[in-house]
Amino acid sequence: MSRVAIYPGSFDPVTRGHMDLVQRACRLFDRLIVAVSTNPSKKHTFSVDARIRMIEESARHLPQVEVDTFSGLLASYLKRKKVRVVIRGLRVVSDLDYEFQMASMNRRLCPDMETVFLMPDEQYTYLASSMVKEVARMGAPPDAFVTAPVARLLRRTFRARK
Ligand code: PNS
Repeated sequence: MSRVAIYPGSFDPVTRGHMDLVQRACRLFDRLIVAVSTNPSKKHTFSVDARIRMIEESARHLPQVEVDTFSGLLASYLKRKKVRVVIRGLRVVSDLDYEFQMASMNRRLCPDMETVFLMPDEQYTYLASSMVKEVARMGAPPDAFVTAPVARLLRRTFRARK
């Protein structure tokens, strides 16, 4: 039986920290579905298509990774995909509050599922998509924080908006 997990998130955009978790999850599972949330009530910088493309380009070397989108409840998406494991990252202790709440709600909605928390490499503990965008918007090179395809899109996006 193949082991499958879903790694959901906004990925606006995907960072090296997210990709570190993707690599770690690939060592534990046979297939990993990176699921980009399309929640219309959240204001994203990048379109769903752009967010998907950035993950696909960043994960080219990982054949077990599939990129998908979901809207609505994560619990419903898990049931539809018949997957029981969700991957989430814990960078710092302050992440725990929100993650614990979310994992508990998801377990309530879908009692069969488990959330597996992975820690990124410590060099990524401070990384967040929002901060990477701020740095890029203000003209600093984003290359240390995101993969090459993402860095290219960040430069193009923020140069065009100046
Ligand atoms: O990268 P993020 O923004 O921390 O990801 C959060 C995400 C998209 C995984 C979370 O908001 C989510 O699962 N949204 C779907 C709606 C849902 O299921 N809500 C109830 C549980 S919080």
